[in-house]
Amino acid sequence: MDRIAITGGFRLEGQLPISGAKNAALPLMCASLLTNGCLRLSNLPHLADIKTLKELLEGHGVATNVEDEGKDLSKGQTVSFTTEVITSTTAPYDIVRKMRASILVLGPLLAREGEATVSLPGGCAIGNRPIDLHLKGFEEMGATIELAEGYVRAVAPGGRLKGGLVEFPTVSVGATENILMAATLASGTTTIENAAREPEISDLANCLNAMGAKISGIGTRTLIVVGVDQLHSADYSVMPDRIEAGSYAVAAAMTRGELELIGNDLLDVLTGTVGVLKSAGLEFTQTDNGLLVKLGSDKVNGINVTTQPYPGFPTDMQAQVMAMMTLCDGASVINETIFENRFMHVPELTRMGADITVHGSTATVRGVDQLLGAPVMATDLRASMSLILAGLVADRQTFVNRIYHLDRGYERLVEKLSTCGAQIVREDGKGI
Ligand code: EPZ
Repeated sequence: MDRIAITGGFRLEGQLPISGAKNAALPLMCASLLTNGCLRLSNLPHLADIKTLKELLEGHGVATNVEDEGKDLSKGQTVSFTTEVITSTTAPYDIVRKMRASILVLGPLLAREGEATVSLPGGCAIGNRPIDLHLKGFEEMGATIELAEGYVRAVAPGGRLKGGLVEFPTVSVGATENILMAATLASGTTTIENAAREPEISDLANCLNAMGAKISGIGTRTLIVVGVDQLHSADYSVMPDRIEAGSYAVAAAMTRGELELIGNDLLDVLTGTVGVLKSAGLEFTQTDNGLLVKLGSDKVNGINVTTQPYPGFPTDMQAQVMAMMTLCDGASVINETIFENRFMHVPELTRMGADITVHGSTATVRGVDQLLGAPVMATDLRASMSLILAGLVADRQTFVNRIYHLDRGYERLVEKLSTCGAQIVREDGKGI
């Protein structure tokens, strides 16, 4: 296995391009199943999850064509997805288990073909990740749902879902996306109440409307979808990755450097994150190309923060902010309310000299003067980023193992950070 070796203590300076958002790209790719036309997506990041989903979609009959490799750092790839005929409505376990977001093919397959058989995604490191809200939503739209041998079998009687009222008791990004995609081709109107409002959902809704869907209430907790008979071809560019941007803003602050994050509307998409980072002492200045970020003083302020659905502080930034808080002035309290097991970076940060105590879903972080380089183990995508961040400021060398987690969500991380002054290399085959 590979590992990343970092020699800490180097300021980050210069321009760092922000890639297309993984969590927008994945549902957008699934939306291609809804039309027999061509969906051309640009600014697609080069990530393991994108590759895995492409493989899954090709199994359903999607023809993919890489029109632009996006070789240089500042540009993603452009890929067209064409599904003239759906050749299979089954999403197999061996692919779904690798990436939970595969469950997002369920809505489009059910909407287009009237049936779908999708492996239950199973849990992952950060929680058991049920899909009950997805399934309940499809039942509200007339689908019958059966669970057997680890698979969900969904059928729309008469081959077409019916518009209905889907009220989510709790906010779910994936369930909102699945129901939203399915509703575009349902007969009649669907109202989604308590919809998740993450920017990635607005990106998906805007793309679906470009394909001929009739969605209103975009960005609000109530989405209204008037079903149409079919969707058509469209070109769409994936929004910038707000979690990647937030992660590198933290890197700039922790190394006392100054980074210009390159991308459009970064301050907008960073809603929910910027407020928390500003209270920690970070300063943001908009530029023609993006967003200038640095720490306004020589120590990070201790803060109290709770993760919430958008527009609150995102759970996907929790581990990265905790890494920053290990060096704060005083102490910080971090509350994780979205996932039940999202503190697995704590033992690894502690091995680097951090002072963190966890009680249930609350972590108390007392600032220390210096983190100590060590071999550490990544456990999930955002935890792996928190260890990279810690390594950037620790003394001596830090070796981050199991970086396949990182490859899922951070495009060309070593290249981006070393271009801005980090002493960081990927060591193939040296990991444990
Ligand atoms: C999406 O996951 C993101 N993934 C996650 O990002 C992100 O952490 C999460 O939303 C919350 O913002 C993608 O977009 C691919 P949820 P999702 O459904 O859709 C519970 C990353 O690091 N729940 O909003 O799976 C669930 O267990 C990843 O990029 C149910 O109980 O998240 C969780 O506690 C990690 N039943 C809460 O809701 C359901 O049917 C929020 O989950 C669905 C969810």
